[in-house]
Amino acid sequence: NENESVSITVVGASGDLAKKKIFPALFALYYEDCLPKHFTIFGYARSKMTDAELRTMVSKTLTCRIDKRENCGEKMDEFLKRCFYHSGQYDSQENFAALDKKLKEHENGKASNRLFYLSIPPNIFIDAVKCASSSASSGNGWTRVIVEKPFGRDSESSAALTKSLKQYLREDQIFRIDHYLGKELVENLSVLRFSNLIFEPLWSRQYIRNVQFIFSEDFGTEGRGGYFDNYGIIRDIMQNHLLQILALFAMETPVSLDAEDIRNEKVKVLRSMRPLELGTMVIGQYKSHTKGGVTYPAYTDDKTVPKGSLTPTFAAAALFIDNARWDGVPFLMKAGKALHKKGAEIRVQFRHVPGNLYNRTFGTDLDRATNELVIRVQPDEAIYLKINNKVPGLGMKLDRSHLNLHYAARYSKEIPDAYERLLLDAIEGERRLFIRSDELDAAWSLFTPVLKELEEKRVVPEYYPYGSRGPVGAHYLAARYNVRWGDLGIDMDQ
Ligand code: BG6
Repeated sequence: NENESVSITVVGASGDLAKKKIFPALFALYYEDCLPKHFTIFGYARSKMTDAELRTMVSKTLTCRIDKRENCGEKMDEFLKRCFYHSGQYDSQENFAALDKKLKEHENGKASNRLFYLSIPPNIFIDAVKCASSSASSGNGWTRVIVEKPFGRDSESSAALTKSLKQYLREDQIFRIDHYLGKELVENLSVLRFSNLIFEPLWSRQYIRNVQFIFSEDFGTEGRGGYFDNYGIIRDIMQNHLLQILALFAMETPVSLDAEDIRNEKVKVLRSMRPLELGTMVIGQYKSHTKGGVTYPAYTDDKTVPKGSLTPTFAAAALFIDNARWDGVPFLMKAGKALHKKGAEIRVQFRHVPGNLYNRTFGTDLDRATNELVIRVQPDEAIYLKINNKVPGLGMKLDRSHLNLHYAARYSKEIPDAYERLLLDAIEGERRLFIRSDELDAAWSLFTPVLKELEEKRVVPEYYPYGSRGPVGAHYLAARYNVRWGDLGIDMDQ
């Protein structure tokens, strides 16, 4: 719109997230012509920097998509000209008021819309929100604030954070990011379920034996230990990323695609779940390991981690949804750092075919004969369905084959980063992929009791070597539910 402007202020502009994700995502949106005509980007941080220095810093982080090399340099220059810097304290009304003045100059009399991205540590969240909202809010347009986890460390601290945020902002101004919701295949989950006839009728306890949500990284905390040690893998990955995927996976059909309708269904799933219990969990921590002459560090070798820390870097858990659709179906989650592979997958294992005429062809390993749907969120995005198929020939031999939708082969486009979609949605006021406060409360209620118990009892994690498959305890846990974990990425090309 000709008469409107949008300014995006990245608070904490020199931090890791800003450099790695936010500025590159903003540039990608600019390149795709997705940003409004009149936009300005401000970096805000404590250190002294000129606009030119910020531009140099940002320019180092920008890349072009492989399929979009044309004019890329030119576009970068144009983009950088729209980036500015303002130095200030995070708790200074005066410094934010000075930012407000600069923003007004750029808005040049147009209606002003302002987005603040808080890319700062949680202990200064509220100060920054207070100052931004009281000294740099828009007078005649919208003001929105993107916040990113950690949203507290348990139910109480999260509720306190929400309460403080709501002193300065309305719920509809708060955009809580869970960047997994911006991932292509996570967004596609609802498309797969609700726009194909063949999945939704099978989507229940009647046909599904178990569902697995697996997150695995092949590197450790490497320098991020200071943040990580206070949270651990359960808060870092399970309570948010994996649980959000689970909610989308398991929700009932929403009334419409509107944000409130979708979030109403997600929150219902979360509220139907049983809180986690120590007895149905396994925790682990990576230890040093030497392989091929290279020694990989233990978690506690990280200089930013306190000696003797018991913080889990791996966790596996069985979760249950006590509603009519999912009664008794184990939803298994597994998340870990410093494992043998990097990837994130959803695996849906179906029940046995009753009275299967071909059982004999599979010998005793009947599990092998069941169908499995795999949604590979990353890397190398894919959706494939394992089916039984006759090996061509005169005999009757069956094997496992795949109906395979491999994104790289099917779509020539590079997949946008999650932050691009989420930033665009925040600019457009689309809340579907952001977390509402009642969802956050429900998510914490599931995890808080077990997190407290782990800490109070000082439960010692099972140590696993850096680069391994993680604690064997995870296999025993799955076996209790007659489940075998899928092996990340391994079986796709069969
Ligand atoms: C973040 C976690 O939320 O997600 C990190 O704090 C983790 O520990 C990261 O590495 C993983 O995100 P992605 O998009 O690289 O899978």
